Amino acid sequence: DPEFALAPHPTIPKPEGPVLVVILDGFGENEFKDEYNAVHVAKPPLVSKLQGVAKRSRTLRAHGTAVGLPTDADMGNSEVGHNALGSGQVVDQGARLVDIALQTGGIFESEGWKHISEAFEHNTLHMIGLLSDGGVHSRYDQVVQTLKGAVERGAKRVRLHVLTDGRDVPDGSSIQFVQQLDEELAALNAKHGVDCKIASGGGRMFVTMDRYEADWDIVKRGWHAHVLGKAPNQFKDAVTAVKTLRGPEDKKVSDQNLAPFVIVDEEGKAVGPVQDNDAVVLWNFRADRMVSISKALEWKDFKVFDRERVPENLKFAGMMQYDGDLGLPKNFLVPPPEIKKVSGEYMVKNGLSTFACSETQKFGHVTFFWNGNRSGYFDSKLETYLEIPSDKVQFNEKPDMKAKEITDAGKEALKSGKYQMVRINYANPDMVGHTGDLNATVRAVQTVDQCLGELLATADEVNARYLVTADHGNADDMVQRDKKGKPLMGESGAPLPLTSHTLAPVPAFVGGKGLPDSVNFRDDLPKAGLANITATMFSLLGLQAPSHYEPSLI
Ligand code: 3PG
Ligand code: CO
Repeated sequence: DPEFALAPHPTIPKPEGPVLVVILDGFGENEFKDEYNAVHVAKPPLVSKLQGVAKRSRTLRAHGTAVGLPTDADMGNSEVGHNALGSGQVVDQGARLVDIALQTGGIFESEGWKHISEAFEHNTLHMIGLLSDGGVHSRYDQVVQTLKGAVERGAKRVRLHVLTDGRDVPDGSSIQFVQQLDEELAALNAKHGVDCKIASGGGRMFVTMDRYEADWDIVKRGWHAHVLGKAPNQFKDAVTAVKTLRGPEDKKVSDQNLAPFVIVDEEGKAVGPVQDNDAVVLWNFRADRMVSISKALEWKDFKVFDRERVPENLKFAGMMQYDGDLGLPKNFLVPPPEIKKVSGEYMVKNGLSTFACSETQKFGHVTFFWNGNRSGYFDSKLETYLEIPSDKVQFNEKPDMKAKEITDAGKEALKSGKYQMVRINYANPDMVGHTGDLNATVRAVQTVDQCLGELLATADEVNARYLVTADHGNADDMVQRDKKGKPLMGESGAPLPLTSHTLAPVPAFVGGKGLPDSVNFRDDLPKAGLANITATMFSLLGLQAPSHYEPSLI
């Protein structure tokens, strides 16, 4: 296909061995090098050694506008990070596209909006999603604007089903978000004479927001609470629900892990199960954690769990379409980013074979997101995607996760001689970092460092060239800080854990036995970001990257 033909690189010869690309998920290089930086505390010997190699170590921007987010106050995340890494391009991402659609009013003109608005007059509009201002999966202000837009356009009865965060925002902040939303609803009800209420909810890691089919029980709990109006915990209002479910301070359950709940009326009846002819909107813009629940809501022949009662004639829409290949969901309010001509497509069209591997929690990151939000292969003859099943635990309990298994698979792929590119994602620094457990995250960093060492040793055996980087920060800061960077302490005097990603840049290293000594990082791209990795990868393959990609770093 001449459209996808790539010329040989003018100075870097074709490699004899494979190119190894490793993503250390959530491994940032933070300016705060103190006892709360798990990377700093871990003192990872291999990464420290790589950092010391002149001209083959640098950092990259991994947040904000460098990865297509609305502002430079937005931390990076795995979706936008892997999109940039795999596509070589910076595109406007979901958060920004929804902002624009709300500003222009385009959201209210969309086919998806017309679809749900059929339920406004006589039925109930349900809105389900992550309630926080994290900006990773959703944003509070967008939820409120969408809700107001519905009420102003005739929605009479709205039920909100809220998933508490504490993962992209500080743990404990859910109470404020729920309170704020309740006040917003009361004001709307008074102003427009409508009936809007919170109807159900639960913690995002325990209810509804499964990803990559890691645990369908999460989705089932959500179905029960939101659709059937059934949960083990019933409350008169959502603030009481969240406060009670968090439990006492010394034994508290974090926002992300709250049990499912439903809000009931005076007679103990759920205030908002989904009924026939109702409309449902999922307000998250990010795909990974909305795909499973979308299948349950949309697929007629869904069989993963017994849905018990399936509302008929449901008018269902996503904030975005979450999977373009599956056309899921069919109806959506804002068209998703279109990421064209990604590296995976160039690879197969140039006859280059790829092995990609991670564990379940990050499997879609290094395949689906990497490929510009495409599920499946470009060419199954040239690509192998291996998913190592993740444990179903809170990952501070098992900070090694599946790093060892992933390493073994990567080594085997390198040695097999079957692949020109071997692409690996280690989940640990991110997934353990999100628990807020500093000691476990230190261990996660050490584990990954050791595994990376093994992988690079094997890479040298087969004359490989490697490129090691990360998608965003997380483990590099485990404490909330004031504006000056001073760690914040809670009432008990203990540090307030930071569970979210950071705005830190990420490291990038090139090297390997197969890389000629003359190949080094350029010094004229100080502001480079994750999208520059893609062209760098093609350089390592001895090819010139497509001209619409951000420039190569070497
Ligand atoms: C999650 O979904 O776990 C977090 O919101 C973001 O983490 P990720 O972007 O690293 O997946
Ligand atoms: Co993360």
